[in-house]
Amino acid sequence: MNIHIYQSEQDVDQAASEVVIQSINNMPSFKLGLATGQSPVGMYAQLSKAYKEGLVSFDQVTSYNLDEYVGLDRGHPHSFYAFMDQHLFQHVDFRENHIYIPNGCADNLHDECKRYDQLLEREGQLDIQILGIGLNGHIGFNEPGETLHAGTHIVELSEHTRKVNSQYFPSFEQVPTKAVTMGIGSILKAKKIVFIAKGEQKSEVIKKAFTGPINPLCPGSFLQLHPNVEVFLDEDSAKLL
Ligand code: PGA
Repeated sequence: MNIHIYQSEQDVDQAASEVVIQSINNMPSFKLGLATGQSPVGMYAQLSKAYKEGLVSFDQVTSYNLDEYVGLDRGHPHSFYAFMDQHLFQHVDFRENHIYIPNGCADNLHDECKRYDQLLEREGQLDIQILGIGLNGHIGFNEPGETLHAGTHIVELSEHTRKVNSQYFPSFEQVPTKAVTMGIGSILKAKKIVFIAKGEQKSEVIKKAFTGPINPLCPGSFLQLHPNVEVFLDEDSAKLL
């Protein structure tokens, strides 16, 4: 695990985006795992800027998002598809048929999980998985608990996660109670993980995930098992390391 600590959040975004841009430029036919949440937003802005400046193209990149809310279709303003569209897709040259996000509105969600796993299996290892961490230690929507799932599955969102994510919804009640998420096994299969966290409120969970025991009560701690994690932190989130 390579931990890089920067003075400002902007420096974190810049440094993480440089790794992604350089990797794509070295191998245009690239498989990129994407994450939602505030952590990668600044990096997505940097990627969009780099595209506009002609420094990178996503024309041959295929993307795979970690998760999606159950019950929100692509057109829903609070779906993760809409989030990705707002922060990245509409600003760059991704091909529509190269974008994969679990379908949280599939008639049969179990079949949808299988379909997503088969897709990931068929495509082989993702070249980079972008990742943040929840305050409760979740990665993707793999919530803390007694057990973790390797593959894509339906998850009951914790009240904590729903409260945190209510910032994106008009009210807490409107935050979906379930999501479809890639499992820990799929996340750990990526060749490289580009992990981003910022802000003092993340300092406890960063300490727990990176220096504590590997434990399903902190799903992020499983990142300690991955051979190639680049961690981008600002000084606030890194202050307990
Ligand atoms: P955040 O969310 O980037 O908005 O903090 C991270 C997560 O919940 O995985």
